[in-house]
Amino acid sequence: MEYTFNLNGVFMSNLIDWSDRYSVGVFKFDNQHKMLIKQINDLHMAMRIGNGKSSLITVMDNLVKYTVEHFADEEREMQRTNYPDYMAHKREHDKLVEKVQDLRERMSSGKIVVTMEVMNFLRDWLTNHIAKVDKQYSDHLVGQGVK
Ligand SMILES: [Fe+2]
Repeated sequence: MEYTFNLNGVFMSNLIDWSDRYSVGVFKFDNQHKMLIKQINDLHMAMRIGNGKSSLITVMDNLVKYTVEHFADEEREMQRTNYPDYMAHKREHDKLVEKVQDLRERMSSGKIVVTMEVMNFLRDWLTNHIAKVDKQYSDHLVGQGVK
């Protein structure tokens, strides 16, 4: 477990730690997943140290933007290599983007504030997708020589 030192002198752990069980065997996608984990950890940190709404929304915007780019990258590789479950995977991505965009909209309109419940939702939103859905493309993409 890694610890971060915050401005008020309180030790905090990351909400999500990278683990090899998240590895999909494709270097660039593991790196992109690490970046998504970092962005969720950043939002958690921003919430914990009490950053204001606009700063939380900026972190959230980065997460939405990076998610869209990352999914497009995965979809390109799946299509290029004729991944048989492409359509189902793409539908999952579309649903996940909808959820995170909806969260962002509800934050900016003041309907919700960032709480641990929101953070746990985001943690599960990402880690369940990696562990349950992305893992399924691993053998196919690695077999096609995707690195
Ligand atoms: Fe995916």
